[in-house]
Amino acid sequence: MKKFRVAQIQYAPVLGNEEGSMENFRELIFSTRHRADLIILPELANAGYNFRDRNHAMQHAQTIEESEFIDWLRRWALMHETNIVTGFLEKEGDKLYNSSVYINKRGKKEVYRKVHLFMHEKKIFDRGDKGFPVFQMGEYKLGMLICFDYLFPEPWRIMALKGADIMAHPSNLVTDNAFKIVPVQAIMNGYYIFTTNRIGSEGDITFAGKSFAVDPKGNQLAIASADLPEVVTTKIDLELAKDKMITPDNHVLNDRFPQDYGDILK
Ligand code: ACM
Repeated sequence: MKKFRVAQIQYAPVLGNEEGSMENFRELIFSTRHRADLIILPELANAGYNFRDRNHAMQHAQTIEESEFIDWLRRWALMHETNIVTGFLEKEGDKLYNSSVYINKRGKKEVYRKVHLFMHEKKIFDRGDKGFPVFQMGEYKLGMLICFDYLFPEPWRIMALKGADIMAHPSNLVTDNAFKIVPVQAIMNGYYIFTTNRIGSEGDITFAGKSFAVDPKGNQLAIASADLPEVVTTKIDLELAKDKMITPDNHVLNDRFPQDYGDILK
């Protein structure tokens, strides 16, 4: 069994302060040196969350190409031969996205943009326009969702059908719903899910911490504290995500009847 090591970095990004955000995760990422195949940071890991309005967020947004934060992580990925997923405040022209960037260990960058915007985010961000892609990660496939996306079963399923073995879920959770829903999605789709949450408060919002990992049977593999900066490390066998049998006679994907599910498109 080939072990794959995931490190989830739970910390507090600093609102509108990329350098301060990096300061808060640097020691944590140093502790993963040469010991992680995949590192996952929270949602909006470079910028913080609770922007006053779209203008305020726009002032602190960058393209993926011009971001020092992404460049630093890319150099880290290359130097330590690791894959990285991070939340990122992304600007493209006059559009503003709540994004997740996947940097693979050869330095190639891919992006997912959050589709399901939570509360005040609807006034700040544009809705993601990349659909629900999955990306190659060595022999396996990686999908990404961002925080509140978790509430909607469709993207989880779409990415399972595209062959995802592992889902990275950068988050800024404020309620407990994800702790109930995410393990169920792992069972329903037969893959690993890693929810990396942030800690701390911004204005009247307090984030829930408790970053966690679940296996393809929905078992919780690890969970962080509610309020401390920490690295959650988990060793997994990605081959387990190839086994989609839920009983000897039932396959979680092949036993579906899409011809009976047309109402979902209404
Ligand atoms: C959230 O989607 N950040 C709650």
